[in-house]
Amino acid sequence: MSSGGEPPTSQAFTPFWIAGPGSPSTPVVGNPVANPVPSSDLGTLGAAGVASTVPPTMSQDITTMANAVPHDDFTNGLPETQPPQQPQQPGPPEPQTLVEAAPQPEPTLEAAQVARYMGLPQSTVMSVVQVFKKEHRIHKKTATGRKRRLTTAQEFQLFEMSQERENISVDEIRTRFLQLFPEFGHISKTTIYRTLERGKKGLIGMDPPPERYLEPIERYWGPKKRGRPKKTGTGLETSANHSLLEPSVSIMEETGPIDTTSDKDISRQRRSLSIAEREMIISLFFNENRTIREVADFMHLAKSTVSSVVQVFKKEHRIQRKTSTGRKKKLSDEHEQMIMDILSHKEDITIEETRNRFLSLNPEVPNISKSTIYRIMENCQSKLRARSDMEVFVGTFVHSTEDSPMVVLTDMVMGVLNTKIEFMESLEELDHLKAEYGFTDSNIHYMTPSQFMMPGMIDTHIHASQFPNNGVAMDLPLLEWLQTYTFPTEANFSDTLFAREVYSKVVERLLRNGTTTAAYFGTIHLEGSKILADVVHDKGQRALIGKVNMMRNCPEYYRELSVQESIKDTEEFIRYIRSIQSPLVQPIVTPRFAPTCPEDQLASLGQLAVRYGCHIQSHLCETQPECNWVKELFPWAKSYTDVYDSMRLLSEKSIMAHCIWLADEEIYTLRERGVGIAHCPNSNISIRSGLCDIRRLLNHGLKVGLGTDCSGGYSSSMLDALRQALQVSNVLALDRDQDYQRLTFKEAFRMATLGGAKVLNMEDRIGNFEIDKEFDALLIDVSAPGSAVDIFSKDTIEDKIQKFLYTGDDRNIARVYVAGHRILDLHNKNLH
Ligand code: GUN
Ligand code: FE
Repeated sequence: MSSGGEPPTSQAFTPFWIAGPGSPSTPVVGNPVANPVPSSDLGTLGAAGVASTVPPTMSQDITTMANAVPHDDFTNGLPETQPPQQPQQPGPPEPQTLVEAAPQPEPTLEAAQVARYMGLPQSTVMSVVQVFKKEHRIHKKTATGRKRRLTTAQEFQLFEMSQERENISVDEIRTRFLQLFPEFGHISKTTIYRTLERGKKGLIGMDPPPERYLEPIERYWGPKKRGRPKKTGTGLETSANHSLLEPSVSIMEETGPIDTTSDKDISRQRRSLSIAEREMIISLFFNENRTIREVADFMHLAKSTVSSVVQVFKKEHRIQRKTSTGRKKKLSDEHEQMIMDILSHKEDITIEETRNRFLSLNPEVPNISKSTIYRIMENCQSKLRARSDMEVFVGTFVHSTEDSPMVVLTDMVMGVLNTKIEFMESLEELDHLKAEYGFTDSNIHYMTPSQFMMPGMIDTHIHASQFPNNGVAMDLPLLEWLQTYTFPTEANFSDTLFAREVYSKVVERLLRNGTTTAAYFGTIHLEGSKILADVVHDKGQRALIGKVNMMRNCPEYYRELSVQESIKDTEEFIRYIRSIQSPLVQPIVTPRFAPTCPEDQLASLGQLAVRYGCHIQSHLCETQPECNWVKELFPWAKSYTDVYDSMRLLSEKSIMAHCIWLADEEIYTLRERGVGIAHCPNSNISIRSGLCDIRRLLNHGLKVGLGTDCSGGYSSSMLDALRQALQVSNVLALDRDQDYQRLTFKEAFRMATLGGAKVLNMEDRIGNFEIDKEFDALLIDVSAPGSAVDIFSKDTIEDKIQKFLYTGDDRNIARVYVAGHRILDLHNKNLH
């Protein structure tokens, strides 16, 4: 391989870092907020200034929470779940917000307006709104419909109790609360805890909509303006109309801004709506007289979604009106509940059977119509579904927190509702929880003494397209290895059948190994990379998926032909993944590494990532020859890191693999940008790139996760990555001072889970077992059939965990869950 590289191909392109702001060639960056520091300011980033902001090392020792976990200790044991104290009132206090415009329980101007608009008595409007709110809350909060919701007064009461004394325990609050409200019967700690959180945020008494809806409507539509925001057909808006589009860009972050007129509607979210969103729809439609289309555009929802909320509201309203005439006697809440119970008792129960059963239990009720039962059935169907979906686990859980690399929680009960962790409490709470949520023993998985649950592992760097080379071809160093083995192998993925064959095996293998989330490199091929996305989606894994970008210093037969083509295909790839509308699969912009990407390509990819709000991944400082080569290729750059930084490729959504040979200044830049590091120890040893000093990176406050980097690394197992990270650290320690802090196995465990989540900028959703996080988890059995882990009678639970991490393998991974779905079960092979 020539080490001089090729001259940059930017003939017509004047890079913006040379052109400067305001120049005609200054690139238009879709969302300036995403990269707030202009590249021209980078020179002011003094090393000393940055170093002073570096936090102390995160490493701490294990925290074991043994059998008798006192209740308050448990609450204290997860301090990281408590968000920082926030100002009392979220969102802008004035002018009038949309929330204020929503219907209120007391007679208000808004209710009067709706009443006038619809030609109905105001009391009717009020009661519809209240019924709607009540029903919605039941739906949102409970698995079964049985859980009572706290009234606002009760919520205040709880919060006030918590404020009375600093050291008051949750148990004490509960006891006092139940003395005050004996009729409440049961209240779980989770409910109390959530209420206190709401209290701290000043949210009691409000049903807070997501923050974006707290913005005054005028900001987006202008004072009396009726029209909807203007959109262009390309998604390539200029800065002139950018501010107008800001809200939709932020709303679309999850599913992506696809702005072509034809696919706009289908691109919108079809997830279930929050109470705030429903109220917003009703408020906009009835109070503000917006059309369905306007509401859909504003909230970036499908028109059909908006329309169905409006229909349901109207339908509910009619039912209510009929009832209020007195012709039909309204059932009491108890009777409704009883019908729900009868319906839920037997899956295929008929309406007739339900009626007979109800009437035999309530001889005082003369009759009940089928349509009433039918209505109740419709109402509670979603709740019944939720109830049968609720999974409850009892036993030992191990996870990491910010403060502790390993927390072992024994005798715990965890509830998973739909995709998320609903509660995690001491086993003593089981009866309370059963009463509150209405689940039964049939919902519970009791772990055996050889089992425990841990978060799913996160592979922050893996080349799905190099799987055929796993375990072969490791005799050459990186640059020669790429040319000789890797590029020819990746070129085969122009064959879509081959792509499907390989990618199916990759995803299955990773899931079996306990990798619930992966940041994948595909190849340069658009179709092949789409297949990778399809396969991941079909098999239910969580992933970032990248179509590789490269167009120089690689074979003629395996390179993109122009920057235009590269960007066009990458944009199509992003849109394709977003069109799948999977909450789990997202695109990631993937310039292979600086030597294969000329400046104009890197810059355009940086812009693309900003415009689409995408993650970015690449390689950085993997080998010394590579670093020297980058210096030659980019003589203007201060460093390798500066090449990427100047192209706006570094943000908190960027993942850089390896980072073995970073200078201190580069570390400061990476930290400043919030970049995550994918440490790939197997690869670093196998192709002899170097030994990465992870302690140094952690001490500087960088986010570090683990990657397998197949096939630079020969193993696709994150357990292998974890072990090799420890071995590399041990080897480094051999010629360091005595006080060099080797990585502990607990730290390696955190890097494989929570650390990886941070690197992927997903720590608010995954990485550990905090309440409300998505349930991505592994059920581990150290005594599974054929297990290579040897357990003895004197082994403690900590020993079992450590033995699994060092000597376990896929035979010990009994179940794999992603977003609450059991996608692999060793005892039930037919899950896929
Ligand atoms: N640098 C550029 N491409 C690659 C690759 O495929 N693997 C590794 N380990 N390093 C790279
Ligand atoms: Fe790699």
